[in-house]
Amino acid sequence: MAIQTNNSQDISWVLAQIEHIAQFGQNASGITRLAFTDDDLQARKYIIELMQSAGLAVITDAIGNIIGRYEPEGINPEAATVMTGSHLDTVPSGGKYDGVLGIVCGLAAVSRLKTRDELKHPLEVVVFAAEESSRFSFATIGSKAMAGLTNPAVLKRIKDHEEISLASELEKIGLKIDNALNAARPANSIKGFVELHIEHGELLDEKSINIGIVDRVSAPTRLKITVTGMPGHSGAISIAERQDALVSASLIVLAIRNIAAEYEYKGAIGTVTILKTRPGAINVIPGKVEMWVDIRGTEHESIVEMLQEIKDAVSSIADDNDTAVAIEVLASEKPVSLSQNLNQIIETVCSKLRLSSLRLDSRAGHDAMNIAYVAPAGLIFVPCKDGVSHNENEYINPKDIEAGLDVLTETLYQLAK
Ligand code: GLV
Ligand code: MN
Ligand code: MN
Ligand code: MN
Repeated sequence: MAIQTNNSQDISWVLAQIEHIAQFGQNASGITRLAFTDDDLQARKYIIELMQSAGLAVITDAIGNIIGRYEPEGINPEAATVMTGSHLDTVPSGGKYDGVLGIVCGLAAVSRLKTRDELKHPLEVVVFAAEESSRFSFATIGSKAMAGLTNPAVLKRIKDHEEISLASELEKIGLKIDNALNAARPANSIKGFVELHIEHGELLDEKSINIGIVDRVSAPTRLKITVTGMPGHSGAISIAERQDALVSASLIVLAIRNIAAEYEYKGAIGTVTILKTRPGAINVIPGKVEMWVDIRGTEHESIVEMLQEIKDAVSSIADDNDTAVAIEVLASEKPVSLSQNLNQIIETVCSKLRLSSLRLDSRAGHDAMNIAYVAPAGLIFVPCKDGVSHNENEYINPKDIEAGLDVLTETLYQLAK
């Protein structure tokens, strides 16, 4: 698809780009652009061309993050970078804005800043690779590598549900997983990172507030639970004799839902998101169920307590139903506090622009939570209509996009001047 060039500083350019990028992976039920699939690769290629046409120097780093860099004339090229960005990959049947907003607005903000004097720092717009955990059940891969939070041994174990490895997908774009650590940025090389993102929740929309300023970001804890029973004839074996793995799994789904409802008010929540039943035949009692659990929270202690309650409930349900169970902890990340300095800058920018703002916590994960380990990081939210996201009906009012772009631009300026 041809590049859309008009004035890249304009909000109309931003809106047109968002519509254009939505075509990569568009299908009857939304946008499916899973990390490193053909649709994602095409969208990445489009963004690279867009960055080049905007005069940015573009590289792809060792984990597949795309970095477009603008170096103002006459500055010290060693000066720490002011960085913005987000992700291009989506969940299955996702919306247009999650991730894309931060990239397109990042490019527009840099275009606007190019016309400003007094910039003392290079600006970078980053497309973080594989932010969504939908494909690899592993979140924010690109930003973790950039922040030095992972290593080749861990990355080599990452596979999707079809057993396709991250390593082989990286190889397709000419990258070797053994070199992934080269994506890590040295300490002090990033002056500040600011991500613009859809809220993924309904607080801002409900309260009619223009801008959310994020204090803390939830990080995921992920479980894989395997319940094993005994497959058998679904007509011939009496109910009392069965070891039905799906019956156990169903009770586990409900138990996790009830535990989550209790912890929701203590800063943690949990969801069973995937169930796979084996052998999966209409006339066979399920002998095995694999289930995946997504736990999120901003209160680490609550997450730890909730995890223990889930483990206890799972064991006792499995016992009561004559099934065996194994629990594998796939991820246990800690919630992250973002930069208070940066948040004050964002707040001041909002009041100068006469936009209402609200401090809040993010109940979703974001690349900013990883970059926060190596640089002051900020996360700016714009309202998402009715809190709908990870859904094809995700929508942001163009006025809110404009406000988000203005706040992002001015915040980056405050860091770069
Ligand atoms: C973000 O999309 C997440 O899954 O937290
Ligand atoms: Mn998302
Ligand atoms: Mn996102
Ligand atoms: Mn995300």
